[in-house]
Amino acid sequence: MASVPFDQLEGYIWMNGEFVRWADAKVHVLTHGLHYASSVFEGERAYGGEIFKLNEHTERLHESARILGFKIPFTVEELNEASRKLLAKQGFQDAYVRPIAWRGSESMGVSAQANKINVAIAIWQWPSYFDPAQKLKGIRLDLAEYRRPDPKTAPSKSKAAGLYMICTISKHAAEAKGYADALMLDWRGQVAEATGANVFFVKDGVIHTPTPDCFLDGITRRTVIDLAKRRGYEVVERTIMPEELDSFEQCFLTGTAAEVTPVSEIGPHRFTVGEIAINLMNDYAAEVMPKKAAAE
Ligand SMILES: Cc1ncc(COP(=O)(O)O)c(C=O)c1O
Repeated sequence: MASVPFDQLEGYIWMNGEFVRWADAKVHVLTHGLHYASSVFEGERAYGGEIFKLNEHTERLHESARILGFKIPFTVEELNEASRKLLAKQGFQDAYVRPIAWRGSESMGVSAQANKINVAIAIWQWPSYFDPAQKLKGIRLDLAEYRRPDPKTAPSKSKAAGLYMICTISKHAAEAKGYADALMLDWRGQVAEATGANVFFVKDGVIHTPTPDCFLDGITRRTVIDLAKRRGYEVVERTIMPEELDSFEQCFLTGTAAEVTPVSEIGPHRFTVGEIAINLMNDYAAEVMPKKAAAE
């Protein structure tokens, strides 16, 4: 599958209310979303035939669009229903789900008040974001040159395509040096997140994670905080400075794609793949599985 380009996969894509053949789900080159990044998206995973926290993701998609100044012309429930039907139509149990909404081609220019809002959902099989063997040993992160922007300079609470420009540059730079990903600081120089996942640390049995005031408060992040509390772990959300990295014993990333991924290195700093990271990795793997009705 890895060698097949994404525009040549098989099956159907849901586009503006209809299921169209994968090869026919096209946009014109003069599309506002492509030129001006007027596009928001989601990343979801299905496990055992059900999309984990589907409603939260769809609500976030609507909110991301609202922040960018447009309204998605389908309700949350309509998009949820389309996603469920598409998953069944694609015939997958475990898969990645990618809804996206963007401004269309009716006019070109910074202003696009009257452009139609398009929405599509694609679903494909995508087993592991990071190499599964490496994941158990802990992945290696570089320190990114770019920083997460001040919320006064970018709509940082929106899962907007434009915010991923610096993520791709940073991830490419890290990969070129043999790392799996990069840790980004924020505009103040505080530890923020990886290019597509939130970050957690462990010191003396306590979990520490940066306060999400200028980056995505991930749905996985919130799930993992709940799981940690259920186990009785203390979780502290606070400002974390890069100078502190040496004092942490464990580190892990969380995200829909990354799930819970232990980290062994960030630049010169070393971490062990410890009990708390492993427990949360396993708890998350159990949590995402569909819950059967209590009577069954
Ligand atoms: C930049 C960034 N931060 C954090 C996350 C984690 O968010 P979630 O757990 O909702 O997938 C993601 C993934 O969507 C992301 O792209």
